[in-house]
Amino acid sequence: MKIAFFDAKPYDLPAFKAEGEKNGLEFIFYDTKLNIDTVALAAGCKAVCVFVNDTVDSSVIDRLCDLGVKIVALRCAGYNNVDLEHCFKKLHVVHVPAYSPYAVAEHAMALLLTSIRRIHKAYIRTKDFNFSLSGLTGFDLHGKTAGIIGTGRIGRVFIDICRGFGMNVIAYDKFPAEGAGIDYVSLDELLERSDVISLHCPLTEETHHLIDSSAIDRLKTGAVIINTSRGALIDAEALLEGIKKRKVGAACLDVYEEESDVFFRDFSGHIMSDDTLARLISMPNVIVTSHQAFLTEEALENIAETTVANILDLNENGYCENELCYRCGKVEDCKKGRSGRCF
Ligand code: NAI
Repeated sequence: MKIAFFDAKPYDLPAFKAEGEKNGLEFIFYDTKLNIDTVALAAGCKAVCVFVNDTVDSSVIDRLCDLGVKIVALRCAGYNNVDLEHCFKKLHVVHVPAYSPYAVAEHAMALLLTSIRRIHKAYIRTKDFNFSLSGLTGFDLHGKTAGIIGTGRIGRVFIDICRGFGMNVIAYDKFPAEGAGIDYVSLDELLERSDVISLHCPLTEETHHLIDSSAIDRLKTGAVIINTSRGALIDAEALLEGIKKRKVGAACLDVYEEESDVFFRDFSGHIMSDDTLARLISMPNVIVTSHQAFLTEEALENIAETTVANILDLNENGYCENELCYRCGKVEDCKKGRSGRCF
């Protein structure tokens, strides 16, 4: 079976090549992202393998069907870039629900510590033999309140990490986990009480711009915001204003609303056309990484293994437990959830 692999990066290749060879699948790797202009590359393939910034909208879905493609295999957890409802009765959509929640949660803490202890500044200074400590004063995490939005796999690992640092943890989730020993509060209370807020919920219509100007107004002055989930959870313009007003103490961003045109590529030596991103990056209290929270050896191996298993399951058994429920488009609150399709 041939599979068109879009947005291929050098770090994807070893694990996917090895898994493909082991299981008789031929991956055809394309650097380009999947969109209406590139979809023709999937001709002759039974499946396409896509990542977070590929476009799987209604026009791409219809074209994939015309080409005879049957499966969209997301090699990531999030699926906000796929029009699931349009896939109904047309394409099977599978994803990798979990590959290493530790990778993402540990990256969130790495960003937080880097930012509040000014490691990014200290690193550059000592490289230049500048051993001054001026301006490097941080604050203890111990005793501070961490507000976690979304207490799924990654959110819970991050909660454990925060507790290890002696932080008080409060959380908000649309679907609270009963009996999980988590202190749930309303979103407004979380915004008002937290010293550090970390986003671990999916991007949906409801969570789009969850952190907007009114949410930022509610924050404690100096609160730190961490986003390792999806860029559009935060209104980037509002965040920038919050930083300029000194309301937001620091922002740690592994994702950005308009990342698809920028992230994963080398723009050094070019003029950055996204003014908001350029301004955010220019701030001393903003750290941006380019959607790298997942990028560990363990995660890459798990992603390749599960993606190949998903494709084989659908091809051989017509059923895959990681198939997304594309009739209602909601994995979490669908009646049948992950155990099957809701149709
Ligand atoms: P998960 O599905 O285990 O947990 C998501 C949680 O969000 C659930 O508890 C769910 O009830 C909650 N939720 C759903 N709607 C909500 C709402 N409206 N308000 C508040 N909470 C809501 O997902 P997991 O594995 O923990 O991943 C979380 C997110 O992390 C993914 O959606 C994905 O966007 C992002 N991610 C980012 C990566 C990166 O490299 N930066 C890698 C992997 C995931």
